[in-house]
Amino acid sequence: MLKVEALYTEYPNEKGEVVRAAQNVSFDVPEGKLFTLLGPSGCGKTTTLRSIAGLERPRSGLISVDGVAVYSSTKNVFIAPNKRNFGMVFQSYAIWPHMNVFKNAAFPLEVGSKKFSKKQIEDKVMRVLTAVGLDHVADREATKMSGGQQQRLALARALVMEPKLLLLDEPLSNLDAKLRERMRFELKRMQRELGLTTVYVTHDQSEALALSHEIAVMSAGQVVQIGSPRDIYERPRNKFVADFVGLTNFLDATIDGKAGEASFHVKSSIGALSVTSFNDFATGDNVLVSVRPEDIELTEQRPEGVNVIEGVVDFKVFLGEYLDYQVKVGDHQVLARVHPSFNVPVGGKVFMRMNPEKCITIQDNTQYQKAA
Ligand SMILES: Nc1ncnc2c1ncn2[C@@H]1O[C@H](COP(=O)(O)OP(=O)(O)O)[C@@H](O)[C@H]1O
Ligand SMILES: [Mg+2]
Repeated sequence: MLKVEALYTEYPNEKGEVVRAAQNVSFDVPEGKLFTLLGPSGCGKTTTLRSIAGLERPRSGLISVDGVAVYSSTKNVFIAPNKRNFGMVFQSYAIWPHMNVFKNAAFPLEVGSKKFSKKQIEDKVMRVLTAVGLDHVADREATKMSGGQQQRLALARALVMEPKLLLLDEPLSNLDAKLRERMRFELKRMQRELGLTTVYVTHDQSEALALSHEIAVMSAGQVVQIGSPRDIYERPRNKFVADFVGLTNFLDATIDGKAGEASFHVKSSIGALSVTSFNDFATGDNVLVSVRPEDIELTEQRPEGVNVIEGVVDFKVFLGEYLDYQVKVGDHQVLARVHPSFNVPVGGKVFMRMNPEKCITIQDNTQYQKAA
């Protein structure tokens, strides 16, 4: 439905140099899906979103909706933002303080170029207020509402024009942690129920994993991997993605031979391991093995099976629903996250078992591949 192709958006800075904000960004968002741009601050998420909205003029590329270009450098097309019919909610959503909830949501209809009757406005506004669960407070002053309600009102205002595409830039980041989590579910429910094609921007990996059909992880203006939340988390293609999305252990390793279709034997910094790989490697190649802390089983007795490494508990941290064990193997530290009932004192011997399918081999490079 939305197609972004080879998008480059750049800014001049104060020194007259070029800031490469979006570099060869490409992705597709199917009808009704929520697509997330995830990455650290400054990686070009907002720039990409604003380019889609028409608030920035890219240097080159193509942005189209249902096959119709809203921006194309080759065809010299640039549709003005107010003609694109996209709904937008930003981090600092502005609620009009002197208007009640109904008036706030009705505002876009009243100032728009299209004229609506009073009855039409009433119908449209009450429909979106019902969708966001604010129909019962339509008469309330906007400033008398909680942060979560104001956020939903901002969403209602973005939806009232029945946009083809919804663009959300860190819409939950001004809310406190508890409310943010609740709104995350609300937003997901609403997006799914209304079938809103949405581009969502966040630097918060758990938000991205929870909300998205698909995620594009960005770094330094480039898309480094696109995939489902599970793909991104379980099959990171490079060190940046493995590191940015969730906690992981990186082990230096050398390929010691092929073990199967997508598996290898490696010599790692903590011992011999069987690992999984989505790339092909030759014996002797230097690689990194990524193992998530929750994918390491700890036992007091040596368990059966492969990928068992002996270590010593260096320290542990109680975190309520789980316990983090820092395990020492020679000079190396490995983090294991286990059930809090597992109890071995600091200095005690433990065995770590790692499922080969959860030991992911990635190329030991910091050069991220370009978007496909
Ligand atoms: N209006 C602007 N003028 C100059 N540089 C900008 C402007 N907007 C963003 N940038 C720069 O472009 C890069 C990407 O910024 P941005 O898209 O806001 O990243 P993100 O939303 O991922 O934090 C950053 O280096 C930022 O400083
Ligand atoms: Mg931003």
